[in-house]
Amino acid sequence: MQKITIAIDGFSSCGKSTLAKALAQKLGYHYIDTGAMYRAVTWFAYQNGFIKEDGSMDGEAIVAALPVIDIRFAINAETHNSDVYLNDVNVEHEIRSMLVSKLVSKVSTIKEVRHKMVALQRTMGGKKGVVLDGRDIGTHVFPKAELKLFMTADYDIRAKRRLDEYSSKGQYFSLEEVLHSLKERDHEDLTRKENPLIKADDAVILDNSELNREEQLEFVLKLISDLQFISRQEQSHH
Ligand code: DC
Repeated sequence: MQKITIAIDGFSSCGKSTLAKALAQKLGYHYIDTGAMYRAVTWFAYQNGFIKEDGSMDGEAIVAALPVIDIRFAINAETHNSDVYLNDVNVEHEIRSMLVSKLVSKVSTIKEVRHKMVALQRTMGGKKGVVLDGRDIGTHVFPKAELKLFMTADYDIRAKRRLDEYSSKGQYFSLEEVLHSLKERDHEDLTRKENPLIKADDAVILDNSELNREEQLEFVLKLISDLQFISRQEQSHH
């Protein structure tokens, strides 16, 4: 089967990465978690005092430091996940904290940060056979991706999923706190100037409020096989 590029965009905590990983595994594709890249930059900025817990940020300092921020992925031999490395240090654990979740949308409004991340993503995902998830993949990073999904789900369900994810890692918050943080992040992602979160015209909406993981995977695999069928038909007509 012909390999394609799959772009998954959508709101925070809609299960984009869960679906992207399952697809990559099923299809033997590479998975690129673009949110992890913005999170790693945020962690760097926080560690260096360029952004504080209260959200006050020295954007110029972050931009000036960009040349010394190296981000890459490497497969974790134990978990088989693709872990993110910041200047050769595995920061997978640090970047999933509530602190980074709260600050990342702000850091990802910086134009120069986005330019650097997008360039990296285009290099890493340049070959077909790749699944990327983020906010601007189908609209900006890979506008010619053969399959684009736009994921959404009810707020309560998203907050509950994120809460479970935190508590499985020993981090405890109230549902209200998680809900508030999600809404703030959506607002920042939707309203930023540089490549905000919007559905690409040709993206398929996937509302997974009522769908389990298997059902979502099945839905997307069906879309892919339909795509392949259409492309075979087109070829036979030429
Ligand atoms: O998918 P995530 O929750 O790990 O993403 C973290 C943040 O990074 C998200 O709130 C906005 C930003 N982001 C972005 O601006 N563009 C992307 N392609 C991916 C993430």
